[in-house]
Amino acid sequence: MNKKRILTGDRPTGRLHIGHYFGSLKTRLEMQEKEEYDQYILIADVQALTDNFHQPEKVRKNVRQLAIDYLSIGIDPKKTTIYIQSMIPEVAELTVFYSNLVTIARLQRNPTVKTEIAQKRELFGESVTYGFLGYPVSQAADITAFEGELVPVGEDQLPLIEQCREIVRKFNSIYGDVLVEPQAVLSSEKRIKGLDGNEKMGKSLGNAIYLSDSEEEIRKKVMGAVTDPNRIRKDDLGNPDVCMVYYYHNLFSSKDEKIKVCEECKKGQRGCVNCKKQLASNIIEYLKPIREKRRYYEEHIEEVDKILFEGTKKAQITAKETMKKVKKAMKLDY
Ligand code: TRP
Ligand code: SF4
Repeated sequence: MNKKRILTGDRPTGRLHIGHYFGSLKTRLEMQEKEEYDQYILIADVQALTDNFHQPEKVRKNVRQLAIDYLSIGIDPKKTTIYIQSMIPEVAELTVFYSNLVTIARLQRNPTVKTEIAQKRELFGESVTYGFLGYPVSQAADITAFEGELVPVGEDQLPLIEQCREIVRKFNSIYGDVLVEPQAVLSSEKRIKGLDGNEKMGKSLGNAIYLSDSEEEIRKKVMGAVTDPNRIRKDDLGNPDVCMVYYYHNLFSSKDEKIKVCEECKKGQRGCVNCKKQLASNIIEYLKPIREKRRYYEEHIEEVDKILFEGTKKAQITAKETMKKVKKAMKLDY
């Protein structure tokens, strides 16, 4: 059977949190169990350098951390190929070839790039680097080097996939039908709000629970979550719908518990402190298998390195095959 290739990945710039877990990570776990798919996950260290060129040690450290995050949630290297972007020279080569097929104006119009440049004023000042402006081109190389057909992403990444599709069409119209045009697959899971009620969970907002958080850290964070502001005493009638603790009970607690929390809160029969303690215990319990697997890999870091090495070796073979076709089409097959 001809399997459909799935290509996805992350920049190794920080740890993954439960927002990632309920979003892209769960999708990847499902995809890897389906016979009809062949999933590749890239650790995009070169892309991470586009906005972290001044902190190479941070990127280096997070490559392993990201790999441990993947392995600890159950990404299985026997079913999914995990590889390191910088070890695939073909991706850099393709980026150069593709850079002729995209205009600077088009890159400047890319909504994702635009938003990110605005967020990174401190780093880039008034003038963005060539590398950062061009990262959609390198992302197109990531996808096409592996003939990725499906790219599961969050909404913020859609303009990058669209740009990749344009590059593919342009390439194929000039050099012949060589590249595979990918399709974005939007994750069906909704985005998880932060502990403070912010629509987005993120490092800079300090409102995230990380997969690698200790029990202590989880407890502390949950105790600081935003509750119904109108509830001061335990017997004040509460509104769970404006409470982040209840929001998280919906994700981590049993159905019976959720109903009980809601009823008792509305009747003023529940203390927020106890409510939070119960939630913290449930989150800790839920993430326990992940924490245990993480501990195993942290103690066996040589296994992590071996998995990365072997995944990358396999990826190198795939990328070489694509490169052969590309060079032939471009009359560069000396
Ligand atoms: N841009 C993605 C991020 O911000 C990472 C990434 C790099 C990626 N190359 C990719 C995602 C190819 C999907 C496909 O995390
Ligand atoms: Fe939120 Fe629970 Fe307090 Fe109600 S009792 S406001 S659900 S923390």
